[in-house]
Amino acid sequence: MEKTGIVHDGVSIKIYDTEDPEKVIISFTDEITAYKKIKKAVIKGKGKYCNGISCEISRILQENGVPTSFIEKLSDTEQLCWKTSVIPMEVIVRNVIAGSMAQRLGLEEGIVPKEPVYDLCYKSDILCDPLINDSQALAIGLVSQEELNQIYSMTQKVNAVLVPMFKSIGITLVDFKTEYGHMPDGSLVMSDDITPDSARLWDIATGQRLDKDRFRHDNGKVGEAYKDVYERLTNREKFL
Ligand code: C5P
Repeated sequence: MEKTGIVHDGVSIKIYDTEDPEKVIISFTDEITAYKKIKKAVIKGKGKYCNGISCEISRILQENGVPTSFIEKLSDTEQLCWKTSVIPMEVIVRNVIAGSMAQRLGLEEGIVPKEPVYDLCYKSDILCDPLINDSQALAIGLVSQEELNQIYSMTQKVNAVLVPMFKSIGITLVDFKTEYGHMPDGSLVMSDDITPDSARLWDIATGQRLDKDRFRHDNGKVGEAYKDVYERLTNREKFL
């Protein structure tokens, strides 16, 4: 499948149109950013690990009945996906309190909430993706009530599939961010990749962080952590 033009020229992800107007190629780079792209670095191999992790997770979700825009892995760093019209709204799931929720509410990282927490954010670079609630999402026309119900039920399913899957490879899925979009036929699919860039992953045995927080907090060994997640995910049978 040939690339015909760039749709999204991001730092860590680039999206290209293809000869088929309904399909795009997503290409993962070795670049990493944090704090609204103020902090940047190149992590050798990151593109390969993130693409591999994303493809594997998309396959697992599809096998478990969650529709996603993923079609197939094309190479170490590229995957073919359906072109969706993305809803400008992030859905964050928190199984363990960390990051912005810990900061905002003055809580210790590591507290397990009684129920998973679901946050919605309005995707806007200028506004820094502000937190919104259900009625704001409806009021500004991001989604209909029916779509919002569908998004919550799909996200619950994603969490219900991924928590035990990560546990089986010795990792706690602390939190993750995802997004949804409409397929050309109008149906709703998960249209985002889940990688250590967009999820917090803690090693169950050591508590070590295996995600972007290593970069955010200058813990070092970022590439090694991403590689570790990639190898555990792609060798799951060894953990059975
Ligand atoms: O920063 P915060 O704690 O709200 O992030 C929750 C989760 O969502 C983290 O895993 C973070 O990496 C991810 N996230 C993301 N993109 C954003 C905001 C959060 O991938 N724009």
